[in-house]
Amino acid sequence: MRTHLLFWMLFTSFFSVTLAQERNLEGANLFFEKCISCHHPKGSAPFSLATYPEIARFRSMIMQLVQQDIMPPWQPDPHYQQYENSRQLDAAQKEALLDWVAKLKKNDKLMAWQRLYKNKMKQKKSDFIHLKHPEGINVAVSPRDTIIPFEFSYTIPTDQNIVQIEFYCSNISLVHHANYFVADEQKAQGKHATVMNENFLRNNNIALGYAPGNRQLPFAQGCGFVLPKSGKVVGDIHLSPSFKNETIQFGLRFYTSEKPLKEIMFLQTVPSLHKVNYETFTIAPDSIQYFKAYYSLHQAVKVRYTHPHMHVFGKQFLSYAVLPQNDTIPLIKINDWRFWEQQYYQFKKPIYLPKGTKIFYEALYDNTLNNPLNPFRPTIPITEGWSIHQEMMANFLICTYPPN
Ligand code: HEC
Repeated sequence: MRTHLLFWMLFTSFFSVTLAQERNLEGANLFFEKCISCHHPKGSAPFSLATYPEIARFRSMIMQLVQQDIMPPWQPDPHYQQYENSRQLDAAQKEALLDWVAKLKKNDKLMAWQRLYKNKMKQKKSDFIHLKHPEGINVAVSPRDTIIPFEFSYTIPTDQNIVQIEFYCSNISLVHHANYFVADEQKAQGKHATVMNENFLRNNNIALGYAPGNRQLPFAQGCGFVLPKSGKVVGDIHLSPSFKNETIQFGLRFYTSEKPLKEIMFLQTVPSLHKVNYETFTIAPDSIQYFKAYYSLHQAVKVRYTHPHMHVFGKQFLSYAVLPQNDTIPLIKINDWRFWEQQYYQFKKPIYLPKGTKIFYEALYDNTLNNPLNPFRPTIPITEGWSIHQEMMANFLICTYPPN
């Protein structure tokens, strides 16, 4: 009996220590995944939280913002549609993360997250193919934004299955968009990102875009595309007004996988507004305006991601699909649009939309002086266009089809 008791005591104390460690690791892990992923020196957040002094400085603010669901940022309304890549923390995750932040000590040399951070960074370097613009581009001082087309060829030893993509730029804060596609040398000949159309995209691998907040895009399990062993990256990079002359380096990191792909991805653009059912899309000065449009699908698609797109005047966005039999499928609802946080939202399960489905999209824009991002004082009419001081209203759907 006594030995039993001793054994039991040893067993439970061992078990609770391990549980505590695991819990600690869970908090560290969550902090890495949900916070440091943006808050590191080259991340999209304005400051780093990757060292002890940085965390200590913001500790009370971190506790508050996490409790109030303000950080990590997540725009879609969870009551409308749920996504696989949601950053939202559930109650247990919140507790583990906050417990770890609260208890973090200055001399914590064995900080699990630091090891984790280093390992993750190391792991990544060996796993991707970096296709870099060979010379970079020279950017001159400009009071307006500039759109620079680019194309460059590459050769790698063999075709590769790509399961994640990342846009990279030496001065990411200058870039407000980038569009790019990859095609084999022959198909890309004479093409430019501005002539992208559905058929061309469907037959020519993937085309994607960078907008603030979506630098990295891991694809859904089993999904990806094949990067041909020799080809071209073609696209354009859109830069905000700049105040100094500089050369920027940029490119794409393609993360490879040995596993065969089960589904091949392509982009189904739901075009920007004027191409659909508005002759002109102009937001009057000093006004708050609402627009609604729909686009009919010319082919059946299996939708994996939705990626709504507006610029700095955008406030709210809603998109849903109405099937030919009139059933409605919610795609996305954003009640408080943030320009710096434009994600590809991955549906929990793929959504099948037959030919003839209408994709509706509705958006609210604020062109008054109450919009802190409004660059025009006094306000002026805002037209549609790619410039950061114009507007767009689009929803890009990334779809898949089985490999032939
Ligand atoms: C998708 C990228 C991203 C993630 C993930 C993220 N943040 Fe942030 N964070 C930002 C950006 C961008 C800002 C600046 C917000 C702004 O200017 O409105 C910010 C601001 C903050 C601020 C300062 C807020 C203020 O009012 O000055 C704190 C503190 C913060 N984040 C903590 C966190 C914590 C803790 C996590 C994880 C639970 C986290 N963030 C996850 C992007 C991110």
